[in-house]
Amino acid sequence: MELKKVAEGKTKIVYEYSSSYYLLRFKDSITAGDGARKDEMSGKGTLNARTSAVFFKLLEENSIKTHFVGVYDDNTLIVKRLKMIPVEVVLRNIATGSIVKRLPIKEGEVFDPPIVEFFLKDDLRHDPLLNYSHLRYFKLLTKEEAERIEEVMMKVNVVMRKFLEEKGLILYDFKLEFGKDENGELIIGDEITLDSMRVRDKDNRIYDKDLYRRGEALEVVRKAYEDFLNIISR
Ligand code: CDP
Repeated sequence: MELKKVAEGKTKIVYEYSSSYYLLRFKDSITAGDGARKDEMSGKGTLNARTSAVFFKLLEENSIKTHFVGVYDDNTLIVKRLKMIPVEVVLRNIATGSIVKRLPIKEGEVFDPPIVEFFLKDDLRHDPLLNYSHLRYFKLLTKEEAERIEEVMMKVNVVMRKFLEEKGLILYDFKLEFGKDENGELIIGDEITLDSMRVRDKDNRIYDKDLYRRGEALEVVRKAYEDFLNIISR
């Protein structure tokens, strides 16, 4: 069966599947710096599809709505059709990455309660930070929707943190993207992988895409992604 492509991004392709479902295929590409650096890491598509499936199932088990329907093949998930909102929502438990460059915050500072931030998906402008007024001006989210998303982010954080902590892992931060289903309900879409979260263990081993951002060899990055999938699959 020839699949019709709906959209293609840096690391995933969306195909038509049925009137209510899409296929989400994870590519082997790995990118950093808003696409400035790009490599092929063989096996990554499969690792990220599997990692996403683990987390989407975990959220569904905890009554948090996601687009996950099932697994199609090694690197492809079946997902609900959503109208995606071009906003990245980040929750931070521990400071690292862009926030320590943007604000007078030290690497490793603990946020209690966690900080939630909204960013416009716009690589050319390096994903600028958005407040409620911007979200409303661009007709991306109403204040009520933004607040609802913050609540969902907090709930996801509790579930994912506990799950990872039981495996000896620490969730520094993560990014989610939301879309609306045919009823206008906000649902988690996109992916939940080491490309979209930061995870360390108690010995400070990094498992996530920071390894690639820091210029580690692809073999080192792949080993970390594999080890992480094994840990969360146990
Ligand atoms: O990656 P960078 O340091 O520029 O951004 P960040 O705002 O510190 O990233 C916070 C979290 O969102 C990290 O877990 C990133 O992996 C994730 N993120 C993402 O998935 N996609 C982006 N375009 C930017 C950040």
